[in-house]
Amino acid sequence: MHIGTLSITWTSLILIVTSGYDDLSANKNAQQYRTGISCPVCVATNAVDGDIKTCTRGESFGTLYPEKSTWWYVDLGGRYNVYNIRIQFKDYGEMYTVRQRGRFAGFSLYVSNTTDRHDGYPCYKDGQELPPLDFNTNCITNGRYVIFYNERLVGTNYPLGYETNSVFTELCGVTVTGCVRLDVYGSNCDKPCSNNCPEPRCNISNGACYNCAPGWMGDFCKSKCLFGYYGSKCVQKCVGHCKENEPCNHINGTCDNGCLDGWIGVNCDKRMF
Ligand SMILES: *[C@@H]1O[C@H](CO)[C@@H](O)[C@H](O)[C@H]1NC(C)=O
Ligand SMILES: *[C@@H]1O[C@H](CO)[C@@H](O)[C@H](O)[C@H]1NC(C)=O
Ligand SMILES: *[C@@H]1O[C@H](CO)[C@@H](O)[C@H](O)[C@H]1NC(C)=O
Repeated sequence: MHIGTLSITWTSLILIVTSGYDDLSANKNAQQYRTGISCPVCVATNAVDGDIKTCTRGESFGTLYPEKSTWWYVDLGGRYNVYNIRIQFKDYGEMYTVRQRGRFAGFSLYVSNTTDRHDGYPCYKDGQELPPLDFNTNCITNGRYVIFYNERLVGTNYPLGYETNSVFTELCGVTVTGCVRLDVYGSNCDKPCSNNCPEPRCNISNGACYNCAPGWMGDFCKSKCLFGYYGSKCVQKCVGHCKENEPCNHINGTCDNGCLDGWIGVNCDKRMF
C-alpha cells in the first residue's frame, strides 16, 4: 500500500515536470497512407484528438500484402521548435501486448519542413528491441510536419518478435511537445533566447544559439570574438591600425576610437601620405 502511494506520487511529479512544454499537435491536421478498409472511422486525426480511445488504423502491409510500408503525419501548422514526441500505440491488453509491439516495431520518426520524410530530420529509428506501446523520445529540432513511417520489405530479416506478414498501425495518441513561441526555451517556454542568436530561435532545451550573430562566439554567443578577430564566426582578422593598438570592433572590424597616427580609413588600413 505504502509503496503504491509513493510510486503514484513520483509519477505525478514527473508528469508535472515534463508538462511544461506546449502541446503542438493537439487537434492539428493529420494524414495517413490510406485508412484501413476494416475500420473506415479510424482516420488519421484520431491520433491527435486528445481521446486515447479513438485510434488510427492504416491499411495492412507486409509480406502477405502488396503494400510494404505505411506512413502517418501531423501538420503542426507552422515551423515550430520541437522537444519531445510521444506515441501511444493501441493496447488491447496483456494478451496482445507482444503482438502489438511486434506491429509497432521498426518504425521511424522524422520532423520535416515538408510532408516528405526524406527532407526531414531523423528523430528516431526503432531497433532490435520491441518498442513499448507507450513510447516517447526527445527530438530537439524545428519543423512543420512530424512523420511516422514503417515498412516490412521483402528479403529483409527482421529481428525476433517483429510482425511481418500482416501489419497495421494503430496510433491512439501522438503528442508533439515544444514551444509555441519561437524565441524562447526551457521546460516552461519562458526563457528568452539570447539577443546574440542571429535569428530569434535557440536550442529549446538549453538555450544554445544555432549559430552566432557576427562578432559573437561560444555556445550561447555571449563571448566577443578573440582579440584581433571580428565578424561572422569570428574568422576575419583585424587589419587596421587602431589608436593605442586597441583591437578592432568585434562586430564589423572598424576602429571605434580612431586610427594610429599615419593611418586612415574606417578600418585604419590605409597609409596616410
Ligand atoms: C526547416 O527549415 C529551417 C529553415 O530553413 C531549418 O533551419 C531547419 O533545420 C529545417 N528543419 C528540418 C527538420 O529540416
Ligand atoms: C540541444 O541541447 C541538448 C541538451 O544539451 C543537446 O543534447 C542537443 O544536441 C542540442 N541540439 C542541437 C540541435 O543543438
Ligand atoms: C561598426 O560598429 C560600430 C559599433 O556598433 C559603429 O559605431 C560603426 O558605425 C560601425 N561601422 C560601420 C562601417 O558599419
